[in-house]
Amino acid sequence: MHSFEKLLLENKAWAAEKVMDDPAFFTRLAHTQTPEFLWIGCSDSRVPANEVTGTQPGEIFVHRNIANMVVKDDLNLLSVLEYAVMHLKVKHIIVCGHYGCGGVKAAMTDKSFGILDHWLSNIKTVYNRHRDEIDEIDDPEERANLLAEYNVRQQVINISETIPVRKAWDQEQRPHIHGWIYGLSDGILKRVYDIKPPVPEPHYVIA
Ligand code: CO
Repeated sequence: MHSFEKLLLENKAWAAEKVMDDPAFFTRLAHTQTPEFLWIGCSDSRVPANEVTGTQPGEIFVHRNIANMVVKDDLNLLSVLEYAVMHLKVKHIIVCGHYGCGGVKAAMTDKSFGILDHWLSNIKTVYNRHRDEIDEIDDPEERANLLAEYNVRQQVINISETIPVRKAWDQEQRPHIHGWIYGLSDGILKRVYDIKPPVPEPHYVIA
């Protein structure tokens, strides 16, 4: 059996098990999705959003790219963000980085990785901003991990400055933006940085 055929076989078993546990599972989900969370994570195969958070299909709207970046002219990310915030009305946006991130490590070198160099330039900007502190650390793994944390923090700030989020904040007390980091070696998610929706200013009547 080819490796991809195993995936199709496993899928049949998974679907059957879901129906056994909850006969209406798929018919219910086929009609609508009402996820409370938008997840912006790294494409790394070791950090699957649903699995590490113990959530089910329908609970998290997911966007992943190399090194969980929020690049302001990335039409793909912006479309996902607008749809999640304006239409699905998610309450929380989670930017999730991870320790041992290959994208972050690559951005710390002067090596060329082809097209990826364009993408990595966004992380290099974060690196340059915190370079003095990061380069003080001797261990290269720890250096990359600190940059991964700073990177999460910067992407949380970037999300908070986008039009969909600003529009939502004008009207409602959501979404809350969370920056988390995942440990590949222990499977634990850690909070790094978060931004709550601002408290609305009182409306003054000008008489
Ligand atoms: Co990564």
